[in-house]
Amino acid sequence: MTDSTPLPPPGAAGLAPLGRRLCEVTENRASGGYRVVSLRDEEGPLPGAGQFYMLAAGRHWEERGNRPFLPRALSVADAMESPRPRLDAPGEAKIGVGGVRLDFLLEAVGPGTERLCGLEAGERVWVNGPLGNAFSEPRRLAPGAAGAILVGGGIGIAPLALLRRRLSARAVPTQILLGFRDRLHSGGLDDLFSNCQLGLASEDGHLGERGYVTGLLAAMLEGDDAGSAAVYACGPPAMLEAVRAMCAARGVACELALESPMACGFGACFGCAVPAAEGGYMRLCVDGPVVAGDRIAEVAHA
Ligand SMILES: Cc1cc2nc3c(=O)[nH]c(=O)nc-3n(C[C@H](O)[C@H](O)[C@H](O)COP(=O)(O)OP(=O)(O)OC[C@H]3O[C@@H](n4cnc5c(N)ncnc54)[C@H](O)[C@@H]3O)c2cc1C
Ligand code: FES
Repeated sequence: MTDSTPLPPPGAAGLAPLGRRLCEVTENRASGGYRVVSLRDEEGPLPGAGQFYMLAAGRHWEERGNRPFLPRALSVADAMESPRPRLDAPGEAKIGVGGVRLDFLLEAVGPGTERLCGLEAGERVWVNGPLGNAFSEPRRLAPGAAGAILVGGGIGIAPLALLRRRLSARAVPTQILLGFRDRLHSGGLDDLFSNCQLGLASEDGHLGERGYVTGLLAAMLEGDDAGSAAVYACGPPAMLEAVRAMCAARGVACELALESPMACGFGACFGCAVPAAEGGYMRLCVDGPVVAGDRIAEVAHA
């Protein structure tokens, strides 16, 4: 299916978010050590690659002592319009078909993501989004950038899957480098990157080259045509800082999808504030999560 959704200019926020709404879970399947959860969003627009949603399961919190959980931020990993019912064949029309199918890649790291990983088809989930801004076209980041290099680490590969789809629909030459810690913290390839040529690395050597994905990027940036590509990265903070520093040293334009703990997701609580290179702070939920590499002095990491 052709996806003609345009990539926005750098830093541009997406459409104004809709209110919180209940969406039906259509599928939840294992994907290596992760899970892919699909929802049907009957009201929302197609999201931009890099945007995120705040998700909270509609029920079953009582199993955890009725603790009222805040929604959790999740990048959209894939999105496409669902087919509308065929009006010429009323017998075949199905109630509830239509809207947008949203896929999320999830790793259970705590109570919120564990609960979301356990969602069952037919269950409903509270959704707010799409939120934040999206990745921009390579040429908007740097006039000479005709292509894209995507660098993903761990669960951070999620937003790059939708970005790859959008770039491929525009015939932008794209190279994809993905890295994982070990087999348990690895997944999403068959579901979100099928039929793609991938450069792979893993710290335990179970997949691709043994080592960090940033080693693959360093080798690629040594090439003569490095300056003709923009880099897009999402992953653990240490990986993002290595990508930022490498691109800054070589004068390569980059955008990073950053994370910080998010309570509201739409600018009200300031819980997601991070220092900006120009001074002051930016709220990652509205000024990000996608941030140009030169807008931050350093990605904080342990
Ligand atoms: C914009 C954005 C997009 C995200 N996309 C995805 C995604 O596609 N898939 C996915 O599985 N997760 C994603 N996350 C991370 C996810 O929101 C958090 O891991 C989740 O909130 C953890 O909730 P929990 O209750 O399961 O665990 P918690 O108990 O809240 O946290 C478990 C551990 O993770 C740490 N942690 C929690 N949130 C963050 C964070 N945002 N950054 C760094 N450390 C954190 C905590 O300090 C704790 O050590 C995203 C986060 C953001 C901000
Ligand atoms: S998450 Fe509340 S301001 Fe960003």
